[in-house]
Amino acid sequence: MADQQQLFKVTIDNITVEVPPGTTILNAARKIGGDVAPPAMCYYSKLQGSGGKCRTCLVEVSKGSDKDPRPMPKLVASCRTTVMDGMEVKNITSPKVIDARAGVVEFLLINHPLDCPICDQAGECHLQDLSYEHGKAGTRYEFQRRTFHKVDLGDKIQLHMTRCILCYRCVFVADQLTNKREHGILDRGDHAQIATYIEKNLHNEFIGNVIDVCPVGALTDKTFRFKNRVWFTKPVDAHRDCPKCSGEVQLWMRGDEVFRVTARKDEWGEVKDTTSGKPGWICNDCRFDKKHINDWVIEGPSAISRHSVISQGHYVGIEKPKEVLIDVMGGRKPRLFLDIHDVSEVNKPNIELSLIDGPATSDTFNGTKKD
Ligand code: SF4
Ligand code: FES
Repeated sequence: MADQQQLFKVTIDNITVEVPPGTTILNAARKIGGDVAPPAMCYYSKLQGSGGKCRTCLVEVSKGSDKDPRPMPKLVASCRTTVMDGMEVKNITSPKVIDARAGVVEFLLINHPLDCPICDQAGECHLQDLSYEHGKAGTRYEFQRRTFHKVDLGDKIQLHMTRCILCYRCVFVADQLTNKREHGILDRGDHAQIATYIEKNLHNEFIGNVIDVCPVGALTDKTFRFKNRVWFTKPVDAHRDCPKCSGEVQLWMRGDEVFRVTARKDEWGEVKDTTSGKPGWICNDCRFDKKHINDWVIEGPSAISRHSVISQGHYVGIEKPKEVLIDVMGGRKPRLFLDIHDVSEVNKPNIELSLIDGPATSDTFNGTKKD
């Protein structure tokens, strides 16, 4: 019988967990879960070679191992540092880490615009979450910010380079999921930018996955841009018989309209594995072209495990407050004085917002929209 694999004991924020040798501190912390897991803006478990770029996952190693208990002299990137037996790590229990993370957020926000109110990624942006948790109210930066023009990468994806944090995830997607990568990071230092060489389009059946891995709103789905705020839509698990991918997706719906199709995500914001155990990357057909409810077999509401605004206002795992109106009214049912749908002309069921080109304006509803 083969020897049972020896496991390493590692203690993170005073919680001990056993993991196989070769596991990174980040993945050991994810095994514990919750706040113990450091934030990760560039590491993506489904993309080989990712990590080591953003420094948001810094942790303090207060004891190297049982054999050599000396602490590591500097904070280390937990996505790139593997555990040792007996290692002790501090994440949220280390003031040094909290301070360093605030510094990293400040650096990331030097050039990143604070345009969350108009950004499609708002509500599911990892940088937005990170800024709420570690950001400062003001900026100390006095120089002009780096800006770029928006670029269409093909007809379905838009690159808003000003928002990019150079995490390289989209480059790994193009490298590992497509046959021919057509984009990468050009130039160095503060001139570094994601670009397609001489503005080539990104043509590949799986290139739409760059949108899902982008932690910020730098790569957005043009079929969804400005159509809706993500927290107004309801995520629903659905599938179809797709010849190119697993066809297991998440539909973002409002009423009967499918506004957006994405891969399903786990609690770390990464693409979930499919029922067959493979990473659930989806093809462009499913993502961009199947926007009708009849294209899909609906499985049911998605369970959103990630702590974010998306998990608010949805209908899975929500504990509703007790309805007290009837008690207060002595057992009588409250009368509805006004049903907004009877008096409002905003509802125009014949206009499918998900299918119109560009954002809806008053012209859309007045029937004066010119093509
Ligand atoms: S475009 Fe998005 S995924 Fe690509 S490097 Fe920039 S932030 Fe990362
Ligand atoms: S997640 Fe570790 S450096 Fe970015």
